[in-house]
Amino acid sequence: MTKLIALLPIICVAVVASKAIDDSKDSMISEDIQKLAYQIEASKLTAPTKIRIAQGLEDMKAAPGEHITLHCMVLSTPSSVFHWEHNGIRVQEDSNVNIHERMMNIGKEVVGDGTISSFYTIPCVNANSTGIYKCIAFNGHGTVESSAKVTVEGKPTECVSNDKTAPKIITITGIRLQENGRVATLNCRADKPAKFEWTFKGKPIDMNDGRFSVLSYGDLVISNISWSDMGDFTCYARNKYGEDHAEAMLFPTKPN
Ligand SMILES: *[C@@H]1O[C@H](CO)[C@@H](O)[C@H](O)[C@H]1NC(C)=O
Ligand SMILES: *[C@@H]1O[C@H](CO)[C@@H](O)[C@H](O)[C@H]1NC(C)=O
Repeated sequence: MTKLIALLPIICVAVVASKAIDDSKDSMISEDIQKLAYQIEASKLTAPTKIRIAQGLEDMKAAPGEHITLHCMVLSTPSSVFHWEHNGIRVQEDSNVNIHERMMNIGKEVVGDGTISSFYTIPCVNANSTGIYKCIAFNGHGTVESSAKVTVEGKPTECVSNDKTAPKIITITGIRLQENGRVATLNCRADKPAKFEWTFKGKPIDMNDGRFSVLSYGDLVISNISWSDMGDFTCYARNKYGEDHAEAMLFPTKPN
């Protein structure tokens, strides 16, 4: 085990280096490596690991044809990923566990604290939308869930296929705390492939700076964060039918 931990940074650097950062998927990285990364990370967190629901789902009544969005928010150290269930069946999944950030921060003291919101949209409610919805969050150290009942009442209506619609952001960081000098990820993920762009305080981010990468699935990874990065970042997800946007705040903290 000790030997493995000593080797891990080398393995990780190799994994990170062998994949172009913007095209890799965390889910492609072996689960064993992820587990080791979690263990090492836990020992270096300057705040205890925690995960709790900050805002849970609420029971809802909807009419056929309506567009509804369910929302849950967690407070989590380190940050979480979400999936959603409807009557026990997984209907939305997000398996990218911020492994880039975790690997790049390995061996360093980190905070990794913050809030993340997750959304599940039913674009057109019908009789089958009834039931129990569950939002489940996982941060590598613990799992929490919140559930609610959706009831459908009213005359059935036709739902038009919604393939030709703008992307919807399903995961967005609320506030993210991280120590100065470290890597921080702001999550932004959409319900379908999209082009992602981020702005900082309303202005395009200078991608030539070398500290910023936008991952293919939307997240913004910022390395060597400093006070000047404090503020609101906005994520835009676009396709040819339109766009969605959402805000995330980065809050750099003093190194311990
Ligand atoms: C509900 O689901 C069933 C089985 O998948 C399907 O046959 C039916 O058309 C659905 N009803 C509506 C209103 O979409
Ligand atoms: C990180 O940024 C600081 C300025 O904020 C700079 O002095 C330092 O050299 C940078 N470190 C790396 C490794 O780029």
